[in-house]
Formats: sequence, structure tokens, C-alpha cells
Amino acid sequence: ETGEMQDAALLSGRVLIWDGAPLREGPGAARIEDDWAVAIRDGRIAALGPAGELRRAHPDLPETRYGRDLICPGFVDAHVHYPQTRIIASWGKRLIDWLETYTFPEEMRFDDPAYARAVADSYLDLTRAAGTTCVASYCTSHPASVDAFFEAAEARGQRVFAGKTCMDRNAPEALCDTAQSALDDSAALLARWHGRGRASYVITPRFSPTSSPEQLEALGALWAQHPDCLMQTHLSEQTDEIAWVAQLFPEARDYLDTYERFGLLGAGGLYGHAIHLTPREVDRLAEVGAAVIHCPTSNTFIGSGLFDMAGLVARGLRLGLATDTGGGSSFSMLRTMAAAYEIGQLRGHALHAAELMWLATAGSAETLGMAGKIGTLAPGAEADLCVLDLASTPAIAQRAARAEDAWEEVFATIMLGDDRAVRDTWIGGRRG
Ligand code: GUN
Ligand code: ZN
Repeated sequence: ETGEMQDAALLSGRVLIWDGAPLREGPGAARIEDDWAVAIRDGRIAALGPAGELRRAHPDLPETRYGRDLICPGFVDAHVHYPQTRIIASWGKRLIDWLETYTFPEEMRFDDPAYARAVADSYLDLTRAAGTTCVASYCTSHPASVDAFFEAAEARGQRVFAGKTCMDRNAPEALCDTAQSALDDSAALLARWHGRGRASYVITPRFSPTSSPEQLEALGALWAQHPDCLMQTHLSEQTDEIAWVAQLFPEARDYLDTYERFGLLGAGGLYGHAIHLTPREVDRLAEVGAAVIHCPTSNTFIGSGLFDMAGLVARGLRLGLATDTGGGSSFSMLRTMAAAYEIGQLRGHALHAAELMWLATAGSAETLGMAGKIGTLAPGAEADLCVLDLASTPAIAQRAARAEDAWEEVFATIMLGDDRAVRDTWIGGRRG
């Protein structure tokens, strides 16, 4: 019976509730309830409500009392490269020379499955400590790097999305596959992992410059055979990258068209960065209902540009938030929300704490096709949670003491917080 109780718990404290989507409907679509509780059974949220009521209704559940801490959905990081864990914060380059100088040499090490597993474990430990319970990760071009990541996540009972990064040109020989091997390896990995436990396979062409038209076409065909799979790639991150894409695909109307013409544009597509979009590209993304992933610390760190959050929300696009480790400069979704806030300010749009927290949880979950399943504290949702100490450092505590409402406290932790603010992370109803 101890086995049965393992994924069962009662967590009491302050609780963050989504009544709607604050990014679309305004901050009023969110609530913070004092002295509430979350009941967890079989790895799912069974009930929520005032703590007293829940204690009476679930007397068998062992209670963890979080007091003034905030119980939130676990963070969902919608675009990461776990293989870049050990090159995070590498100095002085922009996208293409950053890839050549730091990224590709590091990714070459993943031909060693033991190395891949060690980095996967380290990555999942670091992000769990930062309150992240779900990620969508690129692996390297080595199929074993995909197995390593899914195995590490499976050992933690963690919901993850990942795929083999496909690239057959404009990269070191040792990292290049071919159109055929990318198709065969992706199909085999998809068959092995998609839907196994909490794993989802994501078809993953790195970006147009490193795929031949033949490879893009092969992956488009694979996606057509598996429309329930997501597809992730990069789009319009830096201006010189965009100029290079125009040279490589002279017949394409624009960057997005290099995906669309090969069957790689759709509602299950996750387009990372998407900064320098033309009006036509925004129209097409909106028409097909694609998802765009904002990677704010990466966009400033590599010098890419300022994402147009308000403009894309107004077009009805689903938006996710992501660290883009290791082009991004942090493993923390708190730091990532702070960067999104600052970029919003530079574009004349101040995001409310409720909008930032929603983006980092339910917003990203929506882009992964997981609305209602993760990223929200609601009955039936998977019990992936993050508990935030809203006074985790002296600097935050003195600001929180002056706060006039709970959102002001949350905002101080967003702007000033790091992994010290993460009291606990619960994955599938278990404290990690
Ligand atoms: N574009 C293609 N590959 C990458 C990558 O690894 N990181 C980022 N930020 N952009 C990319
Ligand atoms: Zn990326």
C-alpha cells in the first residue's frame, strides 16, 4: 500500500489558478488563493479547494504544508537543446559563428552514448531544481542522444518532448546525416518512443540552412504519416541567417516558405524565435494555427532581436516560452520570464506577472498540444508542480514585504528570483 500512496499527496499553501488565458483575456483570468490545497492521487490532481475542506475530504493523504509559498503548475520549457548544457554562457559570438565555434564541437561529443546520458541527467537535474517539469528538447544528430534523453526522463517519470536533430549540410561531417538516414533514424526513434509512458517524439529538422531540400521533403513526408507528432525547428532568428536562407532557397518566397514547400508547416509545428517575420509569414502562421516559441534570453544573449509578443498575440497565434539552452543564458524559467518582461518593455508592452506565469506554464503547454493536461492546476491534470518561496533571498524578501498584493510578490520573484526560489518540484505526483 506504500506503493499506492507514493503518487498521492496533499499540498497546502497559496495556489495559482488559471480561470482562462491571461495573455489573451487579461490578468483577471488568473487567481491566487490563500490557504488552499491540491490533492494528488495516482500522479494526477484529484481536487483543489480551501485547505480545511480538502483535509476533511482526503484524510488519508499525507500533507505537505507550504504556508505562504505559492503552489504553481511546473514550468514548461518549449524549446531547449539539452546537448548544449555544458556550453551555456559562451562568450562573444552571434548565431552562425556561435554554432560553429561552440555548439557543433560540443554536439560531436554525443557520439558517445555514456556522455549523452551524463549530460541528459545533469540537464534534467538542473532544470528540475529550477522548477521545470516538462521540456521540448532538440537532441543531436546521433540517435543514441535521443535514447539517452528519453531514458533519463523515463527514470524520473517526467513528461518530455524530444527528437533527433536532422542536418545533412553546412555542418561538420561528423554531425551530418543524409536525407535517407535522417528519415530512417527519425522513424525508428518515433516508433520506439512516441507515446511510451510520458514521452513524445518530435520531428526535428534543425533549421533550413543545415537541411537539403531532399531532407526537408523526407521529414515533411514523415510528419504527414504521423500527424499526431509535433515538429520543431528554428525560424527567422537573425538577419544574416535569413539572408543565407534566401541564398540557399532562391525559389522560396521567404524563410517560412522553405518549410511550407516541403510539408513542414502546420498546427503541430513549433517555430522557435520567429523574430524577423514578414507580414506574409505572420499571416501564414496564423492561418495554419502554428505555434511560435519565444526564447527571450537567447534572443538578447546571441544578439538576435526583439520578439513581437503583442503583435503575435493579437494575431491569435499560440505562444510558448523557452530558455533555448544553451543559446539562452539560463536554465531558469523565472529568469526567462524576466527577460520576456524586459523585451516587452523595449517594445512598449508591459506583461503582467499573471501573463508571464501563464506563458511559462499553460501557454507553453498549449503549444505542445497539452492544454489542460500540464501547465495548470485543475482536476484531472497531471501532477507536475513547482512550489515557489516568494521571499527566497533578502533582496526579494524586503521587496515582497512592501507588496500590496500577491501578484506584486510574484513579480518580485520573477524579476529577482532563481533556483533558490524553488522550494520543491513535484513530477507526476512525486517530490523530485
Ligand atoms: N539555429 C539552428 N540551430 C540553433 C541552435 O542550436 N540554437 C539557436 N539558438 N539557434 C539555432
Ligand atoms: Zn534552438
